[in-house]
Amino acid sequence: MSKAKTRYLCNNCGALHLQWSGKCGSCGQWNALSESQEDGVDLGKVVRVRRIANRPSVCDSQDLGSKPFALETISTGSFEFDRSLGGGVTLGSVTLIGGEPGIGKSTLLTQFLATAANGGHRCLYVSAEESQPQVAGRISRLGGADSSIGILIANELEDIEEQLLSYKPEIVVVDSIQTVSDSSLASSAGSVNQVRECATRLSDIAKFEGIALLLVGHVTKDGTLAGPRVLEHLVDTVAYFEGDRDSTLRILRVIKHRFGPVGDLGMFEMGDAGLADLENATGVHLVDRVEGQPGSTVFPALDGRRVMLTEVQALVVPTASEQPRRVVTGLEMSRVLLLLAVLEKKIGVRLHNKDVFLSVTGGVRLSDPAADLAVIAAVVSSLVDRPVAPSIVFIGEVGLGGEIRTASNTRQRISEAYRLGFTMGIVGVNFVEDVAGVSTVRVKDVRAALAEASLHFR
Ligand code: TYD
Ligand code: MG
Repeated sequence: MSKAKTRYLCNNCGALHLQWSGKCGSCGQWNALSESQEDGVDLGKVVRVRRIANRPSVCDSQDLGSKPFALETISTGSFEFDRSLGGGVTLGSVTLIGGEPGIGKSTLLTQFLATAANGGHRCLYVSAEESQPQVAGRISRLGGADSSIGILIANELEDIEEQLLSYKPEIVVVDSIQTVSDSSLASSAGSVNQVRECATRLSDIAKFEGIALLLVGHVTKDGTLAGPRVLEHLVDTVAYFEGDRDSTLRILRVIKHRFGPVGDLGMFEMGDAGLADLENATGVHLVDRVEGQPGSTVFPALDGRRVMLTEVQALVVPTASEQPRRVVTGLEMSRVLLLLAVLEKKIGVRLHNKDVFLSVTGGVRLSDPAADLAVIAAVVSSLVDRPVAPSIVFIGEVGLGGEIRTASNTRQRISEAYRLGFTMGIVGVNFVEDVAGVSTVRVKDVRAALAEASLHFR
């Protein structure tokens, strides 16, 4: 008798492994592998039986009129949500909204359904984790008492399929896909197999009926639920809702989008009345900045395709121990050490008897080398104890010879900084454009940049 092979399934990405290990070799997630319980099921292959649609046939690309629906986009009512999706949610498409529990996924989608319902669209909220009063309460609190939205409390796949076909909604939220299950499968709700099967079958209906389907997917750190990554290839649009529990800032990051470009972010603020579009998103990390402080510089960072102004802070103090200390938050240590070495070697700044502390405010992590110049200017500003003029932004990558390389999207970065009142940009020498209202100072090396920022030292 042949021995049954034990296989190990990654709950994060769905990859199968022959051997157990602490880290999934496919997606890199730790502690996500579990022994595969799906005997006899070929998990690598998603074999689909077309349950809903007829057999496929070829149609002409110009013959859109014969399709059961044309691709229509519905505005979410939020400028930020629309912006991240390139205009809104598309009928006949499937969108996955992933995020950690409690981050605000249900809130975001409830507000969208309330807006769409008020706009005359037939909406259905399928909840597989909350009670009817909970869902109804959230709808009336966030959308007003006038929003009429169908609520279905169900976690059995077949019940949901049936209601999608009979209630005939245009927009459907399934909250969450991990709590829906098909009882004919042996595996438990939230397993890779269940999540894939349920998402595939609901997508089939959405495509055929022209429904905009939004699936909520929980991201859990411990890997107890199949992660949304398992579904990324199945759906049209994948967005992750991110944020820090301690802050009210929420970011919707679209990483896959079949109907438009990716990279634009939606930025929101969570408040008592739900999620509101963040005003002045570009400058959100600068609100607490104290102007005129030595050691502080501003860098227009790019997050996706969006400019976010960030503050780099440096504190340079005489070293208390034999070894000078370098403490860095929000920047790459190796990059910082390189920049400090350039300052020592090319400019003659003596740092061997100084402790250097560097930090990027707002919890931002900068990996963009265009931040180099802002880092160097912050360090020198603290060293000489002189503030940089508050109207300056620094944009440029520093080479090992102390030369400045022009950063990508310099124009976009400067224009956004100008909108927030910055009037001088110290940039690489190869940036040839002019930006109205801003004096662009082109510098070829670090020495020239520091001189332009009035950072002189002996
Ligand atoms: P929720 O949308 O339920 O998160 P998820 O569906 O991602 O699990 O939001 C949960 C948190 O948001 C909860 O801790 C309370 C907070 N919240 C507000 O601050 N204001 C609001 O108006 C709502 C609805 C929620
Ligand atoms: Mg929820």
